[in-house]
Amino acid sequence: MSKKITFDYWKHLYSNRTKYMVSSEIRDLLSLSARPDIISFSGGLPEVRALSFERLEKYIRRIIKTDGAVSLQYSGSDGYYPLKTKLIEVMKLEGVDTVEEDIITTTGSQHALDLLSKIFINPGDVIITEAPSYTGALNSFNSYEAKITGIPVDEHGIDVSILEEKLKEFKKEGVVVKFIYLVPNFSNPSGVTLTLERRKKVLELAKKYKTIILEDNPYGMLRFEGRSIPTIKELDINGDNRNVIYLCTLSKLLAPGLRIGWIVAPHPILEKIILGVQSTILCVSALSQRIAYEYFSDPSWQENIERFKSIYSKRRDAMLSSLEENFPRGTEWSRPVGGFFIWLKIQDFLNTKEILADAVRNKVAFVPGSGFYADNRGLNEARLAYCTEDTDRIKKGIKILAGIIKEKIKLYKSFK
Ligand SMILES: Cc1ncc(COP(=O)(O)O)c(C=O)c1O
Repeated sequence: MSKKITFDYWKHLYSNRTKYMVSSEIRDLLSLSARPDIISFSGGLPEVRALSFERLEKYIRRIIKTDGAVSLQYSGSDGYYPLKTKLIEVMKLEGVDTVEEDIITTTGSQHALDLLSKIFINPGDVIITEAPSYTGALNSFNSYEAKITGIPVDEHGIDVSILEEKLKEFKKEGVVVKFIYLVPNFSNPSGVTLTLERRKKVLELAKKYKTIILEDNPYGMLRFEGRSIPTIKELDINGDNRNVIYLCTLSKLLAPGLRIGWIVAPHPILEKIILGVQSTILCVSALSQRIAYEYFSDPSWQENIERFKSIYSKRRDAMLSSLEENFPRGTEWSRPVGGFFIWLKIQDFLNTKEILADAVRNKVAFVPGSGFYADNRGLNEARLAYCTEDTDRIKKGIKILAGIIKEKIKLYKSFK
């Protein structure tokens, strides 16, 4: 559908905040990736077709039959208590030990990020993220006018020495760091996992410099190999247990269409978050929360996770081996042990935004790297999502991308 261009008469009325709610020039290109003829490595779309729709239908019928009026009504702003009891069981599998009173459900984790930005960030406040970091989080922090400091990531996660230096510097300048935002497991977008030593160090630094860690863990249960590493939340057991706010979502464990996420936080923070929920959405969908409750009440949910893992790990393998076979020397990529994403670095004289334009012409899409940095670094980097396409299309798409990159390198060298 072509975009209708209309003059905006109301520019003078917008809040300052809207200036920071930036749209990206690649959005139009990426919107093409929804077309079935495009091989999409762009969105992190879970394979919801692997779910049993019969089972989901059964849950919804049961809810409407036994609890219909309540499930279609407004509900409490802090979330559906029986679901919280189930979420406690789910989180226990990842070593997070908590109680219903310390949990609030949200409309997906994106809502959680918005709520946390709302209650912590004044314009100009400093926060720290990984660099690269999840675009949705950067957008949320930016829209509340935060000053974002990105700390580089290597194959073991955020660089803790640089983090320490930065925290020291901020302290010297009297700058308060409102929080450190991390995706420690198979990060979006880098695919890397923060080591245990670094998790301990980040926690130690957060305590020393009196700040909070937002630990965003949507992918932790989707580990394909190796032993899981304790969450930072789990490590925060000594002493006061108050430096970590833990975020999770059903988007990758069930389906993003339900829009259910949750936050575990110390009680005083939760009270503020609840006020945020009341002023934004009133309450999370009662129906969605009940569907999630039914899902976790059926022991088959863990089989679904195994099915998801098997699908995604095969797709990861297909992408890694195709990269190995087709990509030219001088390109590098991460090797995730779970989750959805591979991070790609190509020759520094190439620009992945330009490559995207060519790729889309050749019916392949991915996300250029600069959108994952607060300061537009990462021009020769990109995120490749392997979760969406089947293995044959992954192999085909990677071969096409490799061809485009090789052509660009040849062209560049011909001018030298
Ligand atoms: C790291 C991270 N946090 C939050 C979200 C938002 O998830 P939700 O669908 O729960 O809003 C995503 C979605 O891809 C994500 O990758």
